[in-house]
Amino acid sequence: MEEKIAVKVERCKAEEVRRKLQLLRLIDNDFKPMFEGGYVYFPVKTVNGLNSLHKEYSVEVVQAFFEKRLRKPKSLREALEKILPNDLHSYIPSSIDLVGDIALITIPEKLESYSREIGTAIIDLYPRVKTVLSKQGETIGEYRIRLFNIIAGGPDTETIHREHGCMYKVDLMKAFFNSRMSGERLRVALQVRDKENILDMFAGVGPFSILIAKKNPTVTITAIELNPDAYNYLLTNISLNKVEDRVKPYLGDARQILEDFKPIFDRIIMDLPFNSLNFLDIALSKLKNHGVIHLYHVESGVDSIDRAKLRVTRLAEEIGHRIEITYSRQVLEVAPRKFIIALDIKKIS
Ligand SMILES: C[S@@+](CC[C@H](N)C(=O)[O-])C[C@H]1O[C@@H](n2cnc3c(N)ncnc32)[C@H](O)[C@@H]1O
Repeated sequence: MEEKIAVKVERCKAEEVRRKLQLLRLIDNDFKPMFEGGYVYFPVKTVNGLNSLHKEYSVEVVQAFFEKRLRKPKSLREALEKILPNDLHSYIPSSIDLVGDIALITIPEKLESYSREIGTAIIDLYPRVKTVLSKQGETIGEYRIRLFNIIAGGPDTETIHREHGCMYKVDLMKAFFNSRMSGERLRVALQVRDKENILDMFAGVGPFSILIAKKNPTVTITAIELNPDAYNYLLTNISLNKVEDRVKPYLGDARQILEDFKPIFDRIIMDLPFNSLNFLDIALSKLKNHGVIHLYHVESGVDSIDRAKLRVTRLAEEIGHRIEITYSRQVLEVAPRKFIIALDIKKIS
């Protein structure tokens, strides 16, 4: 309890007075109003500006004791600043990824001993979060899976993520999924025209294929995935989103599957940023002239976009194709000054 200046008013006039105090920004919302006898006591920050209330509602200004409100912090920074020593505040992470009811965070080395407190603060801050995972380094291996530690909640790491009206079931310990790519998926999906024949070469649990199929019932999509766990989620997600008639899934290596594949595609998505260039030859050979490849590629440095464009143009020439790069941008920074670059590539010949 804390002693404060207060406005004392009869109960029957209290709501009107509260509104006035709120409007005048005089009420001190850090404290709860107090009820006693037939009166309500509102804690105020100052008495300046109370004149009009004196006359209109015959309020009194008194001293009274108030209970502090337990206010929920509005951000992770605010929550952690209350827990962590001052000299560690500058290390507080500025971003959290949310995938379904799971929160993902990179905890700086200096804060590792506070992992449990950070996880609990995230669960308190986001009521929908049931599990908090701390990212251990970058995605690795052919399946591009990241290692995680469970730092709060959980042990279940399977979840359903909702994005652009689609649902994706995924276990982040077993299959790749990055909610930060959602804008890119929408950008690509919005370019698709009726009746296109599309190839999603590295489909994961299906977020490109399924969004495109959901948005356009006339398309045909071939979705290839190497990781059996991701493939099983792809199957689940195709049926969860009711696009069985449009998305045809394949389990295996994209090059092997495409080798004796007849269809020639209008559009190909190559979302394997650390290795996509090694598949550019087979992709270009399966693309119609004037068809488009949406390629994701990792490049470092400030001039990463120009370097990516040059690398891809030269490689296409070596393979024997003419291309035009119609769009380029840095999509994500995956490590300091290391970016995923998105390139839209039109095949000329
Ligand atoms: C960066 S993830 C992208 C997944 C998906 N496009 C998404 O947005 O979530 C790349 C995926 O390609 C798969 N992959 C890796 N090599 C492959 C190959 N040779 N053929 C088919 N899929 C492959 C990985 O298992 C992983 O799921």
